[in-house]
Amino acid sequence: MNNVKSYIKEHKKRFLNELIELLKIPSISADSVYKNDVLKTADEIKISLEKAGCDHVEICKTDGYPIVYGEKILDKNLPTVLVYGHYDVQPSDPLDLWHSPPFEPVIKKTEKHPEGAIFARGACDDKGQMYMHVKALEFMTSTNQLPCNVKFMIEGEEEVGSSNLSIFVKNNQDKLKNDVILISDTGMIAPDVPSITTGLRGLSYVEVEVTGPNRDLHSGLYGGAVANPINVLAKMIASLHDENNHITIPGFYDKVEELSKEERAEMAKAPFSLENYKKALDINAVYGEAGYTTNERNSIRPTLDVNGIWGGYTGEGAKTVIASKAYAKISMRLVPHQDWKDITQLFKTHFESIAPAGVTVKVKPHHGGQGYVTPINSIGYKAASKAYEDTFGKTPIPQRSGGSIPIVSLFEQELKSKTILMGFGLDSDAIHSPNEHFGIFNYLKGIETIPLFYKYFTELSK
Ligand code: BES
Ligand code: MN
Ligand code: MN
Repeated sequence: MNNVKSYIKEHKKRFLNELIELLKIPSISADSVYKNDVLKTADEIKISLEKAGCDHVEICKTDGYPIVYGEKILDKNLPTVLVYGHYDVQPSDPLDLWHSPPFEPVIKKTEKHPEGAIFARGACDDKGQMYMHVKALEFMTSTNQLPCNVKFMIEGEEEVGSSNLSIFVKNNQDKLKNDVILISDTGMIAPDVPSITTGLRGLSYVEVEVTGPNRDLHSGLYGGAVANPINVLAKMIASLHDENNHITIPGFYDKVEELSKEERAEMAKAPFSLENYKKALDINAVYGEAGYTTNERNSIRPTLDVNGIWGGYTGEGAKTVIASKAYAKISMRLVPHQDWKDITQLFKTHFESIAPAGVTVKVKPHHGGQGYVTPINSIGYKAASKAYEDTFGKTPIPQRSGGSIPIVSLFEQELKSKTILMGFGLDSDAIHSPNEHFGIFNYLKGIETIPLFYKYFTELSK
């Protein structure tokens, strides 16, 4: 690609300012208080796609938040890249842990980002990474270097399960027809160690409710004589892992694919420092399933984690009470071949079966999704790899991620195309956490690398 570097240099300030404006809108999909802001963000993205050179952009209504669809079709005989991203963000709480307000973006230097990073909710996940694609398109159209057709599909409900996008994809197979799907919503190993995400974990998310006596009781008058739902829930949750941190739900591991020695050895080549990992999190030891390394535990192995637990008295001071009910939210990260609906059912059956007499248990499934793995010999992977080689001067490392983007497996199922995950975030960018940020270096490097993907994908498709 001609002069992508100089184009970025010339327009850097504007590229940053436009992203900052987008980050000021609190598009929190989980909280209906922000409804108008989420809708406004969709409008802004529509405008930015039009400015970047799409011929046709529309806001597609759904039963929830709309999907922004845009396209530039050069020639039906050329390949088509479908870009997916999301404009919704996670809630910003706990607010008091932010060093600057989540929707008032500021640029600050950090150890990992000596050139500065933009701090704001959604900076990395996913507004910043999604917007790289809009700016890459702007570069290609304004310098006459777009080599193929492009379609954009930017949704507003990724952080709440993408249920309306599933319907949209099933109903619009023709409109969304493509040769490869391109997503930047994952991470890379380090700024000088490019990587391409080749796997995502699946997810099953459930909520459990344990009910004991029909009302809250005096813990002196009744304590010791009736089942305490909170004690029981804690015990039931503790029993879900054995002493080796294996999950005890019968059948849970049945479909889990065991990687070969060779594949594990290949994985272990990725640069990783356990010391730095512990230091970054202020922990004195890592923890997890026996027999697996940290990088295996968080990518190729399934997990079960409590995300929230509550019940009883949590206010100031003390109240002597046995609560009538206790609750927890539990997520299970799954690996390819584990079906999330099957796993949800296995969990429900098991959890209900281990409830002691004296309580009743309800399991309420939330959302979920399948995992994903993609081969490294596809045209899409090769094109991405060559693009990184050009801009980083290094061959990217294939890496399976622990996170989930459940819609990706549905894309493959419905649209029959492979997804290439070109992520530019760092694990330390604090996505979903206070002080989320996205490195300016990463943002600009993404804008530089993406057009090369188009170029090589088009060339390799011939
Ligand atoms: N972008 C993330 C997923 C991600 C981040 C994958 C980093 C790999 C590396 C996405 O927005 C996300 O947060 N997904 C949710 C699942 C969804 C159903 C709410 C997740 O992984 O918890
Ligand atoms: Mn995301
Ligand atoms: Mn997210």
